[in-house]
Amino acid sequence: MITNDIIDPRSDDEILNEIDVNNIETENRISLETNNLNLWYGDFQALIDVNARVKSGLITGLIGPSGCGKSTLLRCFNRVNERYGNVTTTGQIKIMGKNIYDPDVCLPELRKAVGMVFQKPNPLPISVYENIVFGLRIHNEYNSLSRTEIDNLVELSLKEVFLWDSLKDKLKAKATNLQLEQQQKLCIARLLPLKPQIILMDEPCSALDAGATRAVEELMKELAGRYTILIVTHNMAQARRISEECFFMLLGKIVESGQTEQMFVSPEDPRTDDYIAGRYA
Ligand SMILES: Nc1ncnc2c1ncn2[C@@H]1O[C@H](COP(=O)(O)OP(=O)(O)O)[C@@H](O)[C@H]1O
Ligand SMILES: [Mg+2]
Repeated sequence: MITNDIIDPRSDDEILNEIDVNNIETENRISLETNNLNLWYGDFQALIDVNARVKSGLITGLIGPSGCGKSTLLRCFNRVNERYGNVTTTGQIKIMGKNIYDPDVCLPELRKAVGMVFQKPNPLPISVYENIVFGLRIHNEYNSLSRTEIDNLVELSLKEVFLWDSLKDKLKAKATNLQLEQQQKLCIARLLPLKPQIILMDEPCSALDAGATRAVEELMKELAGRYTILIVTHNMAQARRISEECFFMLLGKIVESGQTEQMFVSPEDPRTDDYIAGRYA
């Protein structure tokens, strides 16, 4: 017999509410954060007081006219900008709550955690298999793994980007001979053995045709949740299709940010409205 004291006295609604609260807390975790970030190339200021919060596990879009600083902002998160000699940065950048300029931050570890995909697919002109294990080699993890473990990682990575079925018999094929869509998916797959938390994508579909673009978008949606994705796109329809949150940048500043649908339906700033409506170059 069920007695009252082991029956949860709360109604289903109350219990569901509690579950929702937990989910919201998970969703609101911040993966990338900048505080008053400024960046100069020589005398030219490319980022001005950027305060951005990118939530964990979501696809966040970064939109704005050419030259407004989207790629520059993206490159801040894995500290690639500092490869250019004349760059000065002030302010704070945090990844998973950790300031990436702290003296104890190890750059190779940072670059493993924050993977990047570029406009033009750029696999190395070596085999599919070797492209996937390349990251393990440069991070000195290759030698600590058995052949079977490496084979498994290659299989898992290709499965995660839906390339396994089409490429499992072509692992020795030269990656640069694949179709562009496969090349771009491979560029995503090769990040995965390094267990990134964040994947930065800089106009990853602009070299692809409509079909390949849709396929890569579907892949991004599959990866969201497990990874935090920040994607620069020139394509407003794409931003709307795939991103849950969005930043609109203009002349080095974030003009507006928030939920994508909200921003497209009722932008707060007239400049966002102009851009979305195609009234900017
Ligand atoms: N390595 C660089 N050296 C000097 N100026 C640069 C460099 N990279 C970008 N810029 C300038 O910074 C501004 C922002 O560029 P970028 O981040 O590439 O914009 P977007 O990706 O939005 O097109 C532009 O005015 C661009 O000319
Ligand atoms: Mg760019």
